[in-house]
Amino acid sequence: MAAFGTVFMPEMAISWFDGSGWSPSEMVSSNSLQLHPGAHVLHYSSTCFEGLKAFRHADGSINIFRMDKNLERFAQSSRLLSLPAINKDATQKMILDAVARFADDVPEPPGSMYIRPTHIGTEPAIGKAAAPTQTSCQYILLSPVGDYFSGGDTTLRLLLEENGMRCATHMGMIKSGGNYASALRPIMQAKQDLKADQVLFCPNGDVQETGAANFLLIDGDEIITKALDESFLHGVTRDSILTIARDMGMKVSERQLSVAELLERAAKPECEAALSGTAAVLTSVGTLLHKGNEYKVGNGGVGTTTLKLRQALNDIQWGKAEDTHGWLTRV
Ligand SMILES: Cc1ncc(COP(=O)(O)O)c(C=O)c1O
Repeated sequence: MAAFGTVFMPEMAISWFDGSGWSPSEMVSSNSLQLHPGAHVLHYSSTCFEGLKAFRHADGSINIFRMDKNLERFAQSSRLLSLPAINKDATQKMILDAVARFADDVPEPPGSMYIRPTHIGTEPAIGKAAAPTQTSCQYILLSPVGDYFSGGDTTLRLLLEENGMRCATHMGMIKSGGNYASALRPIMQAKQDLKADQVLFCPNGDVQETGAANFLLIDGDEIITKALDESFLHGVTRDSILTIARDMGMKVSERQLSVAELLERAAKPECEAALSGTAAVLTSVGTLLHKGNEYKVGNGGVGTTTLKLRQALNDIQWGKAEDTHGWLTRV
């Protein structure tokens, strides 16, 4: 299987904002995009994106998971970055049209079609460091994918980073390229120095999220994860897993979790930890690295509750369990 996100469908849906309105959506080649080298996005990072998935069911239908949530976040990111406002209905139609066009290419589970709506500032204006772009472009890329973390049964090694931050506090809930660039250096360093898979950012000891996923601690029948605030991304998978956990009768605690409490709980043999995200789904964390020490989470293996929650989520996505929350949109 090719690396996640490296194979693209040959066409994408695209629409341009000219300063007053959005052009009708078109399907165009996804191989290239013409931009002025002075485009606002290329200098001042006026860009946001989304990540969601379409799934093939046994009856042949194609179903998109929680599109409304992703559209809401896309609109919010655009607004908080002072990009032109998107029209959620028009963007939804772009997504549906693009997925319908390539419905035959949606892989069977555990694969899916990853959908990447993108919004960029296009105004050729290199003097606008402190002013918003007047024009922009939205496009919907499609990429058939398998598992993000190859080998679903392995567990991750996370470095607990208490000093650095993933991104500026007020940017955390915006899904914007600059945040990923900002997190890259500490992640590369942790990979190189400690063979860590990811960095779990814990500014001032407050357990937050990794570079591309939310963090969940599972202690017996309780899930503990940071309460929503503007400092980190409000993951759709996080919300889905917490909802499923509540449905299963688990206790969900959305609150501050300190590094000290995390390490104390992780030492219990039945404790589990996982990363949640559209790409990661729910992936077990086996080891925490902190101040030169290595700590196993529980027994260090893939947690049984983690597997149960992941399966319950997949069952809904794959059409094997009833979609009681109305999370799927049939294409
Ligand atoms: C920084 C960050 N946090 C969390 C998530 C999880 O969000 P979601 O579950 O909506 O994919 C992502 C994206 O996948 C992310 O990039």
